[in-house]
Amino acid sequence: MYLSLSSLLSVLSLLVLILLPAIYLKYISSTKTQKKLPPSPWKLPIIGNFHQLGANFHRSLGDLAKKHGPLMLLHLGSAPVLIVSSRDVAREIMKTHEFAFLDRGELGILKKLTYNGKDIVLSDYGENWRQLKSLVVVHLLSNKRVESFQQVREEEIALMMDKIGETCGSVIDFTELFLSLVNSVLCRVTFGRKYSDKNFIGMVEEFKKLVVILSVGQYIPCLSWVDWLRGLNVKTEKVAKKFDEFLEGVIEERLDSNLRESNDVKSMTVEHGKYFIDILLEKQKEGVNNFHIDRDTIKAVILDMFAGAVDTTFTTLEWALSELVRNPRVMKKLQKEISLIAKGKPKVTVDDIGKLEYLRLVFKETLRLHAPAPLVIRASSQDVKLLGYDIKAKTRVFINVWAIGQDPAIWEEPEEFRPERFLDTPFDYKGNHYEFIPFGGGRRGCPGIHFANTLMELVLANVVYKFDVAVPNGERGENLDMSENSALTVHRKNHLLLVATPRSES
Ligand code: HEM
Repeated sequence: MYLSLSSLLSVLSLLVLILLPAIYLKYISSTKTQKKLPPSPWKLPIIGNFHQLGANFHRSLGDLAKKHGPLMLLHLGSAPVLIVSSRDVAREIMKTHEFAFLDRGELGILKKLTYNGKDIVLSDYGENWRQLKSLVVVHLLSNKRVESFQQVREEEIALMMDKIGETCGSVIDFTELFLSLVNSVLCRVTFGRKYSDKNFIGMVEEFKKLVVILSVGQYIPCLSWVDWLRGLNVKTEKVAKKFDEFLEGVIEERLDSNLRESNDVKSMTVEHGKYFIDILLEKQKEGVNNFHIDRDTIKAVILDMFAGAVDTTFTTLEWALSELVRNPRVMKKLQKEISLIAKGKPKVTVDDIGKLEYLRLVFKETLRLHAPAPLVIRASSQDVKLLGYDIKAKTRVFINVWAIGQDPAIWEEPEEFRPERFLDTPFDYKGNHYEFIPFGGGRRGCPGIHFANTLMELVLANVVYKFDVAVPNGERGENLDMSENSALTVHRKNHLLLVATPRSES
């Protein structure tokens, strides 16, 4: 049976009439649900925007933000990543919508290094994180606790100063020196003794390398097998196991009452208060607000202390000294300030430090130009409307602290190292001034600011009080190489090699 043309048209019209409301409703709901996304650079299939990133992520992202704006959406593989590059957008993330951006995001295979998310630094917001963060802030890194470690700091700095004194006139590797000092201080305040042997430093290095290696599978799930081919899974398990065995040994050692009674440990415990490990073991026994701390949690928190503290602190020291060598005017001004306060004394003491205003400015300027963690990593825990844009839950966020510190709308001649620029500003680095957030901010902000400052200020003040430092072979300080490595914590690419000579003015 054939339909005539007119019958066919009638049937079609009827169909359209029946379907019209459904089509209309679908159209309305699709326009309603159509998301307004932040600007994005063009992207390639599978790899997304990876090809637009150079070796130094923070710099490439800073360049892209100049073209696409301070709130930009990239795709690293298939993972959406929000890039924040201005003070105002950082404030939106860290203050206005703080609760939506307290997560760190999916860890992939790195979860194995954090006892399956039992740590603080990399775990998502939740009860576990809240209890541990408060434990760390109140019991491990409070001002009182940090001050109780003064003797440890002084002893380790004295050892470092002796080493510099013994090597005067020849080339000294300040990178090694600062790394070893910070590592020794951390070992002593955490475990009550040093583990500065190659084995331990090597282990920490391996751990750090893994944390910064990009897991392909995390961004491009269909290429997870590449991680397997690279041996990343096996390596991660090996490093996690090594660390676990080491930390188990240390904990058992501390639990051993015989060792507790050895003179060494006893006198340290009495004189300086408690070590991190003792406090954690104590809290495990007592419990904290009905929160159970198990062995894995203790080990994860200890790893946090090393992961959070060592790299960031020693690298800030190497950048500060590098900038002083490159800027003789600033070096002279700082040495003059220190000599005025400490003149005649054999060393700069903790009491002197409080009077060294210019020293504080030098560190602020160092952290503005060389934030050791230039990208603060967060993730959204829910769908959120941000400055009129729709941001989906589980979107990673990189806050480009370095780019914000370079914003010419805020900083005059931002590439210049000029500590005086902080003289007339209220900016501290506690996370309240979003133009200057090297320690992050808000609830997830760094709890180690006081720990880092008390150590860094005393180290640098003593070095430049007692010694003049210069680039070897009579090279001009201004020409010192300042290349950066390419990692999440940005160090000098090449070790800081300098020659020290005793100062007559100290
Ligand atoms: C110059 C030295 C340091 C710098 C520049 C630095 C920087 C940072 C930054 C940017 C964050 C992320 C903050 C955020 O998401 O808003 C952070 C977190 C953290 N830092 Fe530091 N840090 C330093 C020293 C330390 C020290 C000495 C310790 C411990 C002894 C430490 C322990 C931690 C911990 C545990 C976290 C995780 C906090 C959380 O996720 O809630 N940091 N740090």
